[in-house]
Order: sequence, then structure tokens, then C-alpha cells
Amino acid sequence: MSELKRILTGDRTTGKLHLGHYVGSLRSRVNMQHDYDTWILLADIQALTTHFKDPSLIKQSLFDVAVDNLSAGLDPNKVIFVQQSAVPAIAELTVFYSMLVTVNVLRHNPTIKTEAANYGYDDMTYGFLGYPVSQAADITFCDAHVVPVGDDQLPHMELTRKIVRRFNDLYGNGTDILIVPTHVLSDTPRLPGVDGAAKMGKSLGNAIFLSDSEKEVTEKVRMALTDKNRIAKTDPGDPSVCTVFKYHCAFNAVEKDNIAELCRAGQIGCVACKKNLTTVLNTMLAPLREKRSYYEAHPSEVYDIIYSGTAKACQVGSETVARVKNAMGVLLDF
Ligand code: TRP
Repeated sequence: MSELKRILTGDRTTGKLHLGHYVGSLRSRVNMQHDYDTWILLADIQALTTHFKDPSLIKQSLFDVAVDNLSAGLDPNKVIFVQQSAVPAIAELTVFYSMLVTVNVLRHNPTIKTEAANYGYDDMTYGFLGYPVSQAADITFCDAHVVPVGDDQLPHMELTRKIVRRFNDLYGNGTDILIVPTHVLSDTPRLPGVDGAAKMGKSLGNAIFLSDSEKEVTEKVRMALTDKNRIAKTDPGDPSVCTVFKYHCAFNAVEKDNIAELCRAGQIGCVACKKNLTTVLNTMLAPLREKRSYYEAHPSEVYDIIYSGTAKACQVGSETVARVKNAMGVLLDF
């Protein structure tokens, strides 16, 4: 295991995960766990940046997000689950890295701007503005080589690389103290919401959750936006403007081309097309539901997984902090 390259990726613990997370990151995590030493960060500090008034929600969703990942097929014997706030190294590295980033660079981060607009912030806290710096600490505390992410995370990956290079230049004395990480983008880095909005988001109210029941999935797909100009089922449709078709592309690779052709020819109606998608989604989610019901019936197993992963992370993190302080020349020998 120690010879494998390390992956770290994470989820904010602000609620349950949805299909956007699944295609954007979870699906590739599950595939990559066999070839990489895989670490999953339960990002509860990052959750505080927007949900600091609701810590009880964050605590509950620590469990929910762990269960979402386990149900998706991550193997607890292979994968390390880490509670972010319980790893002092992440906070310590964040402080050191914060000297290497200007406020203007943070202000211009497009993901920060979009999120600030979505949350309606006219001003923002120092913690929110700076969370990409903390994310650099998430990635480097355990020397991750690779970070699987959705495309909204790309500005943060750029920033991480910038911080690491700057750190190595300033304090490395010709060697790399920290690893410059790469990212891998999934083949579907962004999934629209059922309402047709550009992104599926738990705070946007347009998500299909991994924990949704068959009935909930059916109902959400039934309400999903299709080509607005299509009235009768024999009207020719335009799959390129249809949200349901985008889901077929993400989850139904086998049939998607055929469906697009039938739609353009007015030979399949939206109702039938949605029924097909519902079956595909519920079939895909069936094994996840089975695993979820196991873990929900055995919560102490889930907490043990988080606890032992976090203990390992604390150990690895303290070694990294010692290396970092040593390179910076701020470590005293007592
Ligand atoms: N910012 C990520 C998100 O919103 C979550 C996250 C926190 C993360 N720390 C990370 C992702 C480190 C990759 C690596 O989904």
C-alpha cells in the first residue's frame, strides 16, 4: 500500500451528497481506490465557512457524507476517512501558507466569486475568502499526488500548486519539500440541476440525492426540465437543450445516442424517455441503497472508520508539519 501514489479528495459536510458529486468525483474515487492509496477528507472546517451558524448540521452530515462515500463503493479496508477539524496539521499549514497568498489573488478566484453570489454575500468572512488556502493544506498535509475533482475546483488546484511551488522555492534550498499535486477531472465534471440550472447543488434545491428513495428519484425525474419547445410527443426534440438528455449522457452511455436520434425524429416522448432514465438511475442506485442500509444500521462501524483514519492522518500530518517547520527554519530543538 505504501508504494501506491496517494489520492486525497474531499467533500464539505454541509448535507447529503447527490448525483452531481457522484459523476463529478465519487465514481472515479471508487475506480481509483484499487490503484491509489485513497484518502477522503470530511471537510467540516470548510463546511463552517458557510454554515458556521449551524454546527449541528455539520456534525450530522459528517456521518451522512461518510455513509454516502461508503455506499458508493469505497472500501473501508482500503480507504482512509479523515475528519478535517480533528487534524491540527491542516490548521497549522494553513497559517504558514497564508503568508504566501495575497488577498487580491483570493478575491479573484472565480469559484469563490460564484459561491459568494449564490450565498448572497456582499462581504465575506476571512475564513470563507481563505478556504482555498486551507484546501492547499488538506492536499499537502498527507503528501497527496493526485486530487480527483469537479471543474469548479480547478482554481483551487491552481492555487495549491502556486503555494507549493512558492514554498519549495523559498524554503526548499533546491529540493522539493512539498509535492506539487496534479488533478484528474471526471468525464462529467458538471451535472445540471433537475431545474435545468447549470449546476446541481444541495443549497440550490435542484438535486437528486444518493440517499433518495426510488419514489423520490421517480418524482424528481418526472419534474425535470426537457426541451421547452416540444409540446406533442411527435414534435422533433432538441437533446442539446434537454436536462434529461444530459443525465442520459452521464448515466446511460449505452442508450444515449439512440435516445438522441429518436428524440430528434419525434419518435420517443419525454414521458417514455424519463421512465427509461428513472429505471437506469434506480438500477444504478440499488446497490448503494443496500450498503447504506447496512451502515445506517451499524453507525458505530462508521464512526470507527472515521476515528482510525483520523488518527492516522494526525500522525502523518505532524510529520509533515515538522518537515515544513524545519525547512522554514522555525523549528527549535528543545
Ligand atoms: N472544496 C471541495 C468541494 O467543495 C471539498 C474539499 C475540501 C476538497 N478539501 C478538499 C476537494 C481537498 C479536494 C481536495 O467539493
